[in-house]
Amino acid sequence: MRTKGLLLVAVLGLGWLLGWLSSWNDPVTAEPLIIEPLEKPQPPPPLMGWRGVSIWTRTAGQYADGKDVPKTREMRVFWKNIKLETRKMFDVQYHGNRTYKGVWVRTLLQQYRKPRYVNLALLHFRNGMVVPYPLKTVPGRDPMPVFVAVKMKETKGWTRHFPMVMRTPALPIYKDNRPVWFRGNKVVVQKGDHPHVLDHVAGNVQVWKRVNTLTGIELVNEDAYYKQFAGPNKPTVRKGWLMYRGACQFCHGAHRIGATFGNDFVKPLAMFYFAYNVDELHYHVTFKSADAMHRGKAMPAIKEMPKVQVGYLWQWMKGVVRHPVPAYQPYKAKKPTTRPNRRAIPPRRKPVPARPAK
Ligand code: HEC
Repeated sequence: MRTKGLLLVAVLGLGWLLGWLSSWNDPVTAEPLIIEPLEKPQPPPPLMGWRGVSIWTRTAGQYADGKDVPKTREMRVFWKNIKLETRKMFDVQYHGNRTYKGVWVRTLLQQYRKPRYVNLALLHFRNGMVVPYPLKTVPGRDPMPVFVAVKMKETKGWTRHFPMVMRTPALPIYKDNRPVWFRGNKVVVQKGDHPHVLDHVAGNVQVWKRVNTLTGIELVNEDAYYKQFAGPNKPTVRKGWLMYRGACQFCHGAHRIGATFGNDFVKPLAMFYFAYNVDELHYHVTFKSADAMHRGKAMPAIKEMPKVQVGYLWQWMKGVVRHPVPAYQPYKAKKPTTRPNRRAIPPRRKPVPARPAK
């Protein structure tokens, strides 16, 4: 008994001694405590729609390949700090009337000081969709009424949990069927049309049925924004680009610019190559495969798109892959301050106008 106790004490003592000796030689524990300089302050995490949304202006610059260009004049709107309106309105996603508390996009934008060149807002959604919201008011037409609902009335009171929009298997196979879910807010529109969608495809490109939670509003100059997607200057490519604008831009981007709900047309896979000819692309755009529902495919079948137009689209998709993306430049660059060398180019003489005969 006694020997066992002694042995234990000896083992413990030896262990302690060894530990002490090793720490004595160990440069790490011997070093004094150094307080690391604080890292430079990080930008706050984006408001993803639950507490509020951000409004910002797109900074001029090169956006290709997902370059992280800092936002200009970012304003963070917190739902708890603004006055919410109560509205009973029809909702195209729920196919019925609901009572909401929320705010109009128009009202949100009124509080933001916009640069003069801005004429389009891009509504960013959590699922990666990007939906343009024109700021120009066409005479005789209402500005687009889009309501951001933060709460919804239930039998028990107000809730922030908006039920998912489920698509039943009873829907025809070509219809879109993945559920649409919401986290913290929900965009409500009363009419499903969108001014950018081409008329003949409007039956199946129903952007407002697919959008979910609004996460941000970005202000841009329309021409400068779309120029980033234009591709080479050829008539067929240009027509394809207009098709992209009118049917695909809400869900698909190119060169990692624009929407991310569907695949990017350029990165990482060049889609024109993937859909290796026009027939293939036409088939993809106008049909859904029979197992699309089981695989949770969300791309609508755009049945009305004729093959010639898909041909233009294909030309455009091919064209943008190699074409360098122009930088987003919303205003004219300042004129160079150095004066041109006037002597190098002789001034053109103006022809003296003949005097009219009296
Ligand atoms: C409502 C959103 C939406 C619109 C509008 C849309 N797509 Fe898609 N697309 C998707 C999604 C999401 C995918 C990814 C696969 C899926 O879930 O169906 C996809 C996939 C694709 C693919 C990849 C092929 C595949 O089988 O996955 C191609 C090519 C494509 N889309 C082309 C187009 C073209 C061209 C247009 C415009 C005429 C267009 N899409 C319009 C959402 C959309």
